Amino acid sequence: MTRVALTRVLPDAGMALLHQAAEGGELELVVWPGELPPDASELAVLAHGCHGIVSLVTDPIGAKLFDAEPQLRVVSQFAVGYDNIDVLAATARGIAVCNTPGVLTETTADLAWALLMAAARRVVEGADYVRAGRWRTWAPTLLMGADIHHATLGIVGFGRIGKEVAKRARGFDMRILAFDSQPDFSAAGDLGVELVDLDTLLRQSDFVSLHCALTDETRHLIDADALAAMKSSAVLINAARGPVVDTNALVDALSSGQIAAAGLDVTDPEPIPADHPLVQLENAVIVPHIASASIATRGKMAQMAAQNLLAIIRGQRPDHIVNPEVLN
Ligand code: DGY
Repeated sequence: MTRVALTRVLPDAGMALLHQAAEGGELELVVWPGELPPDASELAVLAHGCHGIVSLVTDPIGAKLFDAEPQLRVVSQFAVGYDNIDVLAATARGIAVCNTPGVLTETTADLAWALLMAAARRVVEGADYVRAGRWRTWAPTLLMGADIHHATLGIVGFGRIGKEVAKRARGFDMRILAFDSQPDFSAAGDLGVELVDLDTLLRQSDFVSLHCALTDETRHLIDADALAAMKSSAVLINAARGPVVDTNALVDALSSGQIAAAGLDVTDPEPIPADHPLVQLENAVIVPHIASASIATRGKMAQMAAQNLLAIIRGQRPDHIVNPEVLN
């Protein structure tokens, strides 16, 4: 019997497809019941004898697991990013790795913008101020922040999400810069985006928004030197992956006033402890990796992750596969 492991319960739209396949006798489902992810040994037990795994960004999956489970055919990730999966090791063993691109693009861009606006206009500080009973009068200099309209936005990673972030910036009459190692000149032209090198982007932007994948090249791309190149009034947004930014350097830059503020959907470490120095800073707005977390989008992601997995199990071509060479 084909066995499939889920490392967490997915939203209903995905569970329904998998339960239907299980009820039809096509597969047997094993579901990790915890709210927290299985650790490595728990994952090894969960995945034992499985032909498919539905994974999350919190599940490191690599050669050790693949070698222990030679019958494994597919790892279907419930996310667009898949830096938690050793794709080279999967490909070497003919294991398909699937992901959920497209459906979360706009939702993620929306949240990046929510962070940008919250950090620029000190929304969380303002809400805390009211909740603490400190609002006694209208005051000329109370909680002054940075203007967004007509400012310069620098987008690092001009892929699907970066482009949606750019689209939204047009409504604010911003100058838009972007840096990407594989620049899309045509989209840049259509969106009125100037493609520049990273140093120019860091030096000229009022807002720097990160939308690149985490790779060996982008790990700590925003380090102490990069932060030093930014304007002292600049705001850094990260809705990509935590390790793209050097956390210690960011804490130093935010506390010394080297940059003005940060809005972070992702952190390193993740989750970040409440007593971490970054969390203590008033000029850091941090949310718990929720950029794709609209009800509709998480439903679509669950459906796509289930469909990708079922396609491989059924010997069909999935809509989204990271390593299509394994299908040849
Ligand atoms: C992704 O899809 O990569 C996000 O980080 C989780 O939605």
